[in-house]
Amino acid sequence: MCGIVGIVGKEPVAERLVDALRRLEYRGYDSAGVATIHDGVLKRRRAEGKLFNLEKKLASEPLAGNIGIAHTRWATHGIPNETNAHPHFVDGVAVVHNGIIENFSELKDELSADGATFETQTDTEVVAQLLARSRRAGMGRREAMLAMLKQVTGAYALAVIFADDPSTIMAARSGPPLAIGYGRGETYLGSDAIALAPFTNEITYLVDGDWAVIGRDGAFIFDHDGNAVDRPRQITQAAAYMVDKGNHRHFMEKEIYEQPEVISHALAHYVDLGAHTVRTAVSDAIDFASLRGLTISACGTAYLAGLIGKYWFERYARLPVEIDVASEFRYREIPLSTDQAALFISQSGETADTLASLRYCHDAGLKTGAVVNVRESTIARESDAVFPILAGPEIGVASTKAFTCQLTVLASLAIAAGKARGLIHADEERQLVRQLTEMPRLMSGVLNSIEPQIEALSRELSKYKDVLYLGRGTSYPLALEGALKLKEISYIHAEGYAAGELKHGPIALIDENMPVIVIAPHDRFFEKTVSNMQEVAARGGKIIFITDERGAAASKLPTMATITLPNVAEIIAPMVFSLPIQLLAYHTAVFMGTDVDQPRNLAKSVTVE
Ligand code: F6R
Repeated sequence: MCGIVGIVGKEPVAERLVDALRRLEYRGYDSAGVATIHDGVLKRRRAEGKLFNLEKKLASEPLAGNIGIAHTRWATHGIPNETNAHPHFVDGVAVVHNGIIENFSELKDELSADGATFETQTDTEVVAQLLARSRRAGMGRREAMLAMLKQVTGAYALAVIFADDPSTIMAARSGPPLAIGYGRGETYLGSDAIALAPFTNEITYLVDGDWAVIGRDGAFIFDHDGNAVDRPRQITQAAAYMVDKGNHRHFMEKEIYEQPEVISHALAHYVDLGAHTVRTAVSDAIDFASLRGLTISACGTAYLAGLIGKYWFERYARLPVEIDVASEFRYREIPLSTDQAALFISQSGETADTLASLRYCHDAGLKTGAVVNVRESTIARESDAVFPILAGPEIGVASTKAFTCQLTVLASLAIAAGKARGLIHADEERQLVRQLTEMPRLMSGVLNSIEPQIEALSRELSKYKDVLYLGRGTSYPLALEGALKLKEISYIHAEGYAAGELKHGPIALIDENMPVIVIAPHDRFFEKTVSNMQEVAARGGKIIFITDERGAAASKLPTMATITLPNVAEIIAPMVFSLPIQLLAYHTAVFMGTDVDQPRNLAKSVTVE
C-alpha cells in the first residue's frame, strides 16, 4: 500500500531513492515519483505506471540535490495518473504519504473555503495544503508539522521536505510502518528495512503516534504529545534478504520451488527432527491446556491458512476455533473472554485489518500470538508470542511459500496444543511429527514431476472464462485458495466451494464451459467428493481431478485431466496439494501474458482498510 523513502545525504540522492523504491515496489506500482531540493528549490519527476517509467524520465531529465523523498503508489483516492502521483507540492512543501487521511474531505472543504486550490484528487494533498497554510501564517516548520498532525485523522506514514530547509526531512507515523536508518553523515527513511538495506543495517522503527525530525547526523523523535522519546536502534538482517529471481522467470515461480527448503527451515524451528517431538519452547508460548477456545483472524491467503488451521486445532486438540477475515472480525464486536487465545496470521505483519483485530483482542485481555514472516513487523512487535514462519522474503504478490510455511507452523502448533491438552500421546506425536518431516522430500518429488503436465493443462485452462474449485475437509479451504490464486494472477473468474455445497446453488453454473477442479486426496471424505464429481460429470462439466495414487486408482470417472500426487499423510496433504494449485495458476497466467509478480490493482502489503 504505497512505499515511501527519504534520504538526507552528502551526495546526490535521486538515483538511490529510485533504487530504494525498487525494493518497495511490492507495496504498489500504480505510479512513482521523486522530489529533491536543489539550490533552495523543490524539483520533482513523476510517472504513471511502474517504476521503470520514472527511471526513463530521470534518465532524460536528471534531478540534482542531496536531499529527497520518493514514493511508489497503490492508488486509493484518485486514478493512477501522473497528476495524482506523489510527491505533492504546495508552496515550497513536498509530501509523500502511505495510508489514508480519513477526514480529507472535510479538510478539503475547509481549505478550499479558505482559498486553497487543489491540483489532485488525492487525500494526501490536504497534508501539503495544511502545512503550506501554516507556513504562510508564519509558523515554523516543526510548529506547522505538529499543527497538521493534530488536524488529520486516519492512517499515515508521511515524509515531508520544505524548500527552505535543505537539511531536514520530517516524518510521522500513525498506522503504516516507518523506519529511520543511520549511515555515516547520512540518514534514511523508509517504509521497511529492506528498502534501506543497501544503505544501512542500523535502524529505528517509529512507534504509532511518533513524528521525527531527521538530519544528516541522526534523528530527533517525538511522541504524539510532542515529548522527545528514545526509540531503540536495532541491527536488522534485511541486507541478507537482497533477492533476485535466480534462474526463474518470475519471483512467484522461484518461490514455489523454494518451498521444500523453506519448509525444512520452519520445521527445524518447530520440531525436534531427531526425537520427532514438538519443541517445548513452542508449546509453552501459549498455555493451550487451559484454553477454552482459540480465535484466528487474518486476510486473504493467510486467512485461508487459518481456516485449514481451524480443522487441525479442532481435530487434534479439541479446541473450538472462531475464525473470520480481519476486516469483519475487527468490527463485529465479538464477545471475548480471557480463557481464549488469539492468533493472527500475516506474511507481511503489517496488514491494517489484521493489526486492528490484534489490538481488539489485546484490549480484551487475550493472550495473542503472531504467525508472521516479517519478524520486525508491527503485528509481531505487538503480540505476546511470535511464531515466525521462516519463509524468507516473498516478493511475488501472490502468496505461495508463505502459505505453506504458515500451514507448517499451524500444524506444529495444533500438535503442541493436542499434546498440552492430553489428547495426543507420545506415539501419536512422534507419528505426526515424522509425517511433517517427510514434507520437504515429498514436495521436491512433486515439483520435479508434475510441471510438464500442468503446463500443458494450463494452456487449455487459459481458454476458459470461469473455473470452479471444489474440496471437502481441509481441501475446502484449499479450493478457496486455488480460486484466489487463479483469479488474482490470470484474471480468470474462479470460485471455490465446499464440494457438499455444490447442489445448494453453484451446480446451476455447470456446463461444458466451466471446468471444475476437484481437490480430493484419498482421505475419509474421498467417496463423498467423488459423488459430487459424479453430479458435475452428469451435467456435462469438465473435471480436472487433483488426487493421489489411491484416489486415481479408485475413481473411474472420465476427466479433462487427472493430476496424480503421491499418497501422503492427511496432516501434510494441504501443503503437498498446494503445489499443483499454485503451478496451475502460475502457468495459466504465464500463457495469458499477465504480469505474474505484480498483478493489476494489487499490492503485497495492505496497510489501509
Ligand atoms: C494472495 C495474497 C493476499 C494476502 C493478504 C494478507 O495471494 O497474498 O491475499 O494473503 O493480503 O496479507 P498478509 O499475509 O501480509 O497479512
